[in-house]
Amino acid sequence: MSGLKLDPNKEYTLMLVKPDGYHRGLVGKILARIEQKGYAIVALRVAEATDDELQDHYEEHRGKHFFESMVDFMQSGKIVAAVIEGTRVVEGVRSLVGSTNPTEAAPGTIRGDFGRDYDSGHIQNLVHAADSTASAAREIKIWFPEISE
Ligand code: CDP
Ligand code: MG
Repeated sequence: MSGLKLDPNKEYTLMLVKPDGYHRGLVGKILARIEQKGYAIVALRVAEATDDELQDHYEEHRGKHFFESMVDFMQSGKIVAAVIEGTRVVEGVRSLVGSTNPTEAAPGTIRGDFGRDYDSGHIQNLVHAADSTASAAREIKIWFPEISE
């Protein structure tokens, strides 16, 4: 990964496969959907998320009722972080991912096809995807501090 530079004229997004996606062996299937859609994976990393990374990543949700349980869930196993490139990729990947609640997410989306509700007290929805180009730039720095712009 060292030396990777992002092209200021291209659009990128940040995706995470969450611990439920990793431990269910869905990393390949999830990344295949990104590639099938025509986007390019330009950086990829398997990690165990630290508290600091998650506090930064989910900054907008700090203090909400689900925050602590979500951070515990995000540290319950390995995650995969990916930087994805393509025209309108932020919007396109959000659309591939589907809505937050996996029971309600549309069939055909990653959350809709692979996810459901469990009585676990927290949402297990397999993936995260940045919701704007500004969020993507911020989140790429958190998970890939070695990438320069
Ligand atoms: O991930 P997305 O952008 O679709 O949803 P969000 O509203 O930004 O929430 C971020 C994440 O917080 C969700 O993907 C869930 O993992 C978690 N969450 C939760 O556990 N319980 C909620 N009531 C809302 C969100
Ligand atoms: Mg969000």
